Amino acid sequence: AYRSEDDYDYLFKLVLIGDSGVGKSNILSRFTRNEFSLESKSTIGVEFATRSLNVDSKVIKAQIWDTAGQERFVASLNRNPPVGICGQSTTSYNFTQGFEEISNGKPRRYRAITSAYYRGAVGALLVYDVTRHTTFENAERWLRELRDHTDPNIVVMLVGNKSDLRHLVAVSTEDGKAFAEKESLCFMETSALEATNVENAFAEVLTQIY
Ligand code: GTP
Ligand code: MG
Repeated sequence: AYRSEDDYDYLFKLVLIGDSGVGKSNILSRFTRNEFSLESKSTIGVEFATRSLNVDSKVIKAQIWDTAGQERFVASLNRNPPVGICGQSTTSYNFTQGFEEISNGKPRRYRAITSAYYRGAVGALLVYDVTRHTTFENAERWLRELRDHTDPNIVVMLVGNKSDLRHLVAVSTEDGKAFAEKESLCFMETSALEATNVENAFAEVLTQIY
């Protein structure tokens, strides 16, 4: 039977976290639109996209939130010169007003944005880049921020992205797995470029929540 886009049994909010440049936005676009961009810009503000999946004959709609990594809006300013800051996609929240407030590197809006971002999330993809070890080291900080802002039952998937760059790997699969086990997280290596495991990662998180 036909079911419309708005006909779903469950709506789950998921968040994408991890350092700038690890591929969060491309993981999201791969999952929700089957698109990938080699030249994507750092995310500005907060965006979300949705996709529905069938699990056990139920329709689960995932609403996935995405924002810029580590230094947040400061990082996105560095990666994208402050030109066209206001050119937001239709799904963006207008959190980026008042950039002067972060010009000293201490965003006053940081806390408000952070708690809004995490509020109500029941799942998270904590993403690092398998070719940049620092992004893996920072996973611990991301996890702490996540734990500080979310329910202890949140389902977290540790994601080592860019697995297609085999010759550049700086974080072994074993190290990823070990960290995930230590922190009781699920674990997967993905490639948004090759579309490897992206669907599996989301499906696993959604199934566990459900
Ligand atoms: P912020 O918005 O700044 O936090 O970054 P992000 O985590 O959203 O990263 P984004 O998706 O913008 O990707 C950063 C760069 O990595 C882009 O040039 C992408 O094309 C590239 N990239 C993302 N995923 C992959 C992947 O699986 N493989 C390869 N080779 N490159 C990727
Ligand atoms: Mg992004």
